[in-house]
Amino acid sequence: MHFSSILLLAPLLSSLVTADQVPFVGKATEWFDKAKSFLPNQGPVDAGAAYVAEHRVERINIRNWQRKLAPKLDTEEEWLIFVTGGNKSCFGRCGHAEATWNLSVPLLAPVQAASAKPLHLAILDCDRDEIVCTAWGTTLPSIYHFDVPKKTEPQAKVPLHVVPLNMSSATTADILSIPSATKARYLDFPEYEGAVHPFDGWLAKFNLLIPFGYVMWGFGSTPSWLMMLGISFVSRQIMSRRMGARTGVPTPGAAAPAPPPQAQTPSRPAGGTPRSGGSKKRR
Ligand SMILES: *[C@@H]1O[C@H](CO)[C@@H](O)[C@H](O)[C@H]1NC(C)=O
Ligand SMILES: *[C@@H]1O[C@H](CO)[C@@H](O)[C@H](O)[C@H]1NC(C)=O
Ligand SMILES: *[C@@H]1O[C@H](CO)[C@@H](O)[C@H](O)[C@H]1NC(C)=O
Repeated sequence: MHFSSILLLAPLLSSLVTADQVPFVGKATEWFDKAKSFLPNQGPVDAGAAYVAEHRVERINIRNWQRKLAPKLDTEEEWLIFVTGGNKSCFGRCGHAEATWNLSVPLLAPVQAASAKPLHLAILDCDRDEIVCTAWGTTLPSIYHFDVPKKTEPQAKVPLHVVPLNMSSATTADILSIPSATKARYLDFPEYEGAVHPFDGWLAKFNLLIPFGYVMWGFGSTPSWLMMLGISFVSRQIMSRRMGARTGVPTPGAAAPAPPPQAQTPSRPAGGTPRSGGSKKRR
């Protein structure tokens, strides 16, 4: 594939990365315009970017995130996790950010090569991995920046900075300036230290983060009419138990005699069936 020749050009870009943001974008697009001619015919540059994105980016999901992001024995790591979604979790509005991310991935290759600590690129798709996204309390689209310490520092925290991406106008420069090897723009955003921090939040400390994710996801994906039905069912159960206790009948279903109407329902005709369940049971 001709694309490898473009990857060989990538080191040339490392000199550009530290340059000013605005000229850099100009050069990057210029470079991409040139690079287009190397690409196979089947598509514009996006096709190539998608190809690279697929091969350099690790996929975060519910089975692997704890292992992938865990502290390693001998080295610190830096992680950029692009959090995105499709029609379900992002209402189809993350497309621009995703295309920008795809374009940024090959441009981040020289940054990865130059980085003092390994820089990992990953993607978390909230349409596929709703539980993880719910547990982390993610906002879309954004970049989750983790500074993973060495394992030999067991008390060390895992600083997390969340860099939001503009749905309509995020640029590759916005993404390229995030890692510490470039402009460390992640430091412009406050460190997240709340309850749903994937490693240091109290939910994670008590191993409740993923159960919490399931519960919240369950609430979120239960249709509201079902929720209303459930609530009215439960409250009716409670009400009937109370009524049963007041009229002196121990169990609500057992032979509730319809005739003695309580004083407050005189408007109902005698033939009315205030407790259809009871009358059915008697037959
Ligand atoms: C981005 O790249 C992925 C492959 O990693 C591809 O599936 C996706 O369609 C691409 N998205 C856009 C908007 O180009
Ligand atoms: C998302 O929705 C749009 C329009 O509603 C549709 O064209 C597109 O195919 C959908 N994408 C997916 C992945 O379902
Ligand atoms: C995203 O960019 C657009 C256009 O530059 C701007 O109008 C909008 O306010 C930005 N949104 C956010 C949340 O910054």
